[in-house]
Amino acid sequence: MSDPFGSTPLPDHGLPADEVLDLLAAKKHNDRDWRGGKVYSLVYSAGDEVHHLLERALGLYAAENGLNVLAFPSIGFLQHDLVRITASLLGADDPASGGQIQGHLTSGGTESLLHAVKTARDVARTERGIERPEVLAATSAHAAFTKAADYFDVDLVRVPVGPDFRADPEAMAAAVTDRTILLVGSAPTYPHGVVDPIEELGALATERGLLFHVDACMGGFLLPFLTRLGRFNEPFDFTVPGVTSMSADLHKYGYAAKGVSVICYRTPELARHQVFVTDDWLGGFYASSAVAGTRPAGPIAAAWAVVMYLGLDGYLALTQLAHDAALRLRAGVESIDGLAVRGDPPATVIAFGADDPASLDIFAVGQALSSRGWYLDRQANPDSLHATVHAGSAATVDDLVIDLRTAVGTIGTQRSTDRSTTYGTSA
Ligand SMILES: Cc1ncc(COP(=O)(O)O)c(C=O)c1O
Repeated sequence: MSDPFGSTPLPDHGLPADEVLDLLAAKKHNDRDWRGGKVYSLVYSAGDEVHHLLERALGLYAAENGLNVLAFPSIGFLQHDLVRITASLLGADDPASGGQIQGHLTSGGTESLLHAVKTARDVARTERGIERPEVLAATSAHAAFTKAADYFDVDLVRVPVGPDFRADPEAMAAAVTDRTILLVGSAPTYPHGVVDPIEELGALATERGLLFHVDACMGGFLLPFLTRLGRFNEPFDFTVPGVTSMSADLHKYGYAAKGVSVICYRTPELARHQVFVTDDWLGGFYASSAVAGTRPAGPIAAAWAVVMYLGLDGYLALTQLAHDAALRLRAGVESIDGLAVRGDPPATVIAFGADDPASLDIFAVGQALSSRGWYLDRQANPDSLHATVHAGSAATVDDLVIDLRTAVGTIGTQRSTDRSTTYGTSA
């Protein structure tokens, strides 16, 4: 059998632990060195002390199973704390939220969005008699909504964004049909880091009797702190009338280890749709609020640990660091002839590209940056490079601007041979 990955076979005899760890370390030799701060995608770093804490907390819960909180009550308490803390950041303590917010922990942003869509589908079927419901999302809403539509047999209707790359409420209103059950807004969007007009979309949802999910996977642990720092002042959470569910990822700007997101619902009735219960088999009562059955407890413990370690003041400091870095990147991009930032991103996610794609190929610029060790995503419509700026970027962002200026100056009319975009790949 041909083997492009150079697989390692099952050894006849087990190897010593140190040797195994050396082999693992050797396997990473082609991986991007995110610790150096040059990776502007996929990894969020709050520094070595936080990583060390995450590793220790992961180790403490390496064997426990998050499926059963009767056997491991501590996991139940950790989850409860994380959901409460997240809900509170998303406006749950404000009387405008209705005071009934409930939520669940999931394995990541994608799973949270899958649940948002499945809950809406179940409400459509049980309460509105719509067998094949429609979800309305802007073209900027995350790819996980397309995955959810595919998994759960609903139709996803993509509505073009406006010239500012934000969802267009008028276009969304025009797309509502008798089968529409759920509207989607993002705070912020992944592709351009802009925040959709949540209040206007909430008003539309209220007027048309629709559910409304705000995808704050990226912004849930960012916008509340930017707001407290006086750097952001648009309402985007449960204080906005019409918002019925929200997702927020601890494993992004919560600086947790991978594998933890929170989904919150405005009412306990909505939250209950997510809990799957059965006893129709020989193994006994089975209840689960996540897609997975057996669930790793390590990421839950690590998320709890980092939240306690950082506290409000830690998150405010990291948010300020990341936002200052993003502002420096933006100013740098805007100072380079021929480059433009896409839209007006208020937080820390920025996309930029050529003013005139005929005279500059931004993917060729991306290739030049990549050869100097930088990792930025490439995306299309329009061709752009994408930077997720986090606290770990602060140390390198000025060098990135220098290399970017040099690359733009030397690329000329060269075209990149590689037109692919790079957001997610699979082995
Ligand atoms: C706005 C938004 N929603 C959802 C997701 C999906 O999150 P995950 O990759 O954790 O599944 C992302 C990921 O970047 C995102 O930016």
